[in-house]
Amino acid sequence: MIRNAEVEAERPSIDGVVALDGPGLPLPAGPLDALGPTSWVRQSGRTWWAPHPGGGGPRSLKVKGVLSRGTRLRYEREAPPVYDPHPGFPPAEHLGVTADGEFTMVPRSIAPLDGLVEAAARRELRNAARLRDAGGAGPAPVGAWRYPDIAFRGERLGIVALELPVAHPHRADVLTRLPDPDLPPPARRHADGLVDLLGGRGPVELRRQRAISHVWTRFGTALSAFHGAGLYRYSGDPENVVYDEGSDTCVLVDLDSSLDLARLEPQARGVQMARDVMSAILNLAFSMLRIPVVAQFASSRQSADPFAAMLGAYYADTAVDARVLDPFLDYLGDVARRVTRWVDERGAHASPDHDIHRCIRGDLDLLYLGLARITVDLHRSSAAARAIAPVPSEQAIDRSIVETMGRRYLDRCRTFTSWDSLDHRGQGS
Ligand SMILES: Nc1ncnc2c1ncn2[C@@H]1O[C@H](COP(=O)(O)OP(=O)(O)O)[C@@H](O)[C@H]1O
Ligand SMILES: [Mg+2]
Repeated sequence: MIRNAEVEAERPSIDGVVALDGPGLPLPAGPLDALGPTSWVRQSGRTWWAPHPGGGGPRSLKVKGVLSRGTRLRYEREAPPVYDPHPGFPPAEHLGVTADGEFTMVPRSIAPLDGLVEAAARRELRNAARLRDAGGAGPAPVGAWRYPDIAFRGERLGIVALELPVAHPHRADVLTRLPDPDLPPPARRHADGLVDLLGGRGPVELRRQRAISHVWTRFGTALSAFHGAGLYRYSGDPENVVYDEGSDTCVLVDLDSSLDLARLEPQARGVQMARDVMSAILNLAFSMLRIPVVAQFASSRQSADPFAAMLGAYYADTAVDARVLDPFLDYLGDVARRVTRWVDERGAHASPDHDIHRCIRGDLDLLYLGLARITVDLHRSSAAARAIAPVPSEQAIDRSIVETMGRRYLDRCRTFTSWDSLDHRGQGS
């Protein structure tokens, strides 16, 4: 009896949702209703997944913002619960860009637990359509809906559904998490399959690194297409990337916070794109620094490959020196060794997300800004070639780092600069 009640509480609840009219998008009636409730699988957090009803090759639906019955009850009984990714810590800040194209630290926005506000649902749908229209690998837009009766801080909650060209719910983080013994068996099987497909021959860790590099090459291309479609702000977490073996491309799946480049002041566009590149590198790095995967990172410099692979694909028109990230990777290697030592000391008491977060907190600002400086630098040379958007001068970026974090940070960020410009400066001063 209790078990049934739990299942009932976990079931997604879409009773009474109404379709939203997208801007000129055809919204097929009732694709959510077409799914029997038992075919839903909770993918992660607020996202549900279901194999696509109907034929025509492998496909699945990704549906975001569907509240489970249990969560819905909480909304009805108490003030709407807030999603807190790091319980027990002060609200996180991340690196943002002002209208003038300068760096600034901005607080993370507040989201309803398991929910999505209507504006975000609409944005995800619109951005997916836009990415598709521009020829980039995005999910196909299916529809967006609104709860007539549930709101979060004055905004109605919504649902968005997208179609993916794959039959499975797995995302690219299965590869970065593969050494984790707690990886669920289906995810492990999928990752092993990718390693077999993409890793070539040799020791298993080397094959895994090769598979990651291959996928991140495709991710670099996808991110470039995303910017080419006039979008910016992509959270390049491996969790937000789906690798499609069929077409050998990456599908970018988390589009609800992406925005329109054309609405930015011209001087902020290049920096915002560079910030996305930086975010993709950092998110890949953080995903490799997780417990218990971190020991692998600390002991293997092979992990440099996926970063260079991604940069090479994103800046396909610019000859990127593979060593450009070396100072950053050296620093990251130190961090990984420190985390590994610290995890060894804490042993069974170490808890993955919470403790990694605590352990690298002091490094975050430096990693953000130091890496942003490298990518802005790269973007400057590439933007000149492609004439996409102007990028502020190195002096302007340095000024904004000083304003954001203070003088001492600039000096430390400078140690992250590419070897070339380090040599350059070393001779000049
Ligand atoms: N509002 C939220 N409520 C619950 N979990 C969330 C929320 N926002 C993000 N998450 C968590 O963060 C991760 C990112 O998922 P999310 O950004 O919701 O969408 P997507 O499925 O498009 O990547 C998920 O693993 C999820 O657990
Ligand atoms: Mg996500």
